Amino acid sequence: MTNRAESESQKAVSLTVASMLQNQRLQDKRIQRQVRQMQNSVVCALSMLLDLKDLRTGVHATRLAEWGVRVGEHLGLSREDLRDVENASLLHDIGKVGVPEEILNKRAPLTRDEYDLVKKHSEYGWAILRNIPYLENSSLLVLHHHERWDGKGYPGALRGEEIPLGARIVAVVDAFDAMLSTRCYREGLEMEEVLRRLRGAAGTQFDPQIVELFIRLSSEFDEIAGTASAAA
Ligand SMILES: [Fe+2]
Repeated sequence: MTNRAESESQKAVSLTVASMLQNQRLQDKRIQRQVRQMQNSVVCALSMLLDLKDLRTGVHATRLAEWGVRVGEHLGLSREDLRDVENASLLHDIGKVGVPEEILNKRAPLTRDEYDLVKKHSEYGWAILRNIPYLENSSLLVLHHHERWDGKGYPGALRGEEIPLGARIVAVVDAFDAMLSTRCYREGLEMEEVLRRLRGAAGTQFDPQIVELFIRLSSEFDEIAGTASAAA
């Protein structure tokens, strides 16, 4: 083979390899997109399950996810951690499907046994989600979303930074939305009073740094919070 023919042949091989690599990259991207879509569909289907259980829960969870992600962004969380916070916010109360409805909807104060059953929802939620590989981290946030900064929460009585950061975020945004929303047994509180109570529980129930950040960001949440109060 002449030098020229050799060089032409090498060029052709290089072009073929480049084209194969390009095709492979496109295929990888397509697969990644399909995996992401499948993951979103699973989270969406589980959220719908929450909606079917109690319509207000689903709307509440969507607001939480938006606020939780915003708090996480300001704390500099990675994309993966933000995704875990978002999924945990959406699905934090999924374990309530395992708690009898007559207890969840009871207007009178709960008995000790009933309250113990309600508390089980964080463990039920963890048990449901931990079997889905990409929700494994979120399942831990769900497990610990009722822990308290002072160690008096459940189920693990974890204290301070022992509690996963994402679970500390979910705890604050969950409490904020719960206080703001009107329930069948009580009126929602005014924004000012909600923030006062959050501030009062910083360092006991909640991570004080997250409360401080959340209060600073709360003016951005005003519009959404207004919608929440009106819709609840
Ligand atoms: Fe909960």
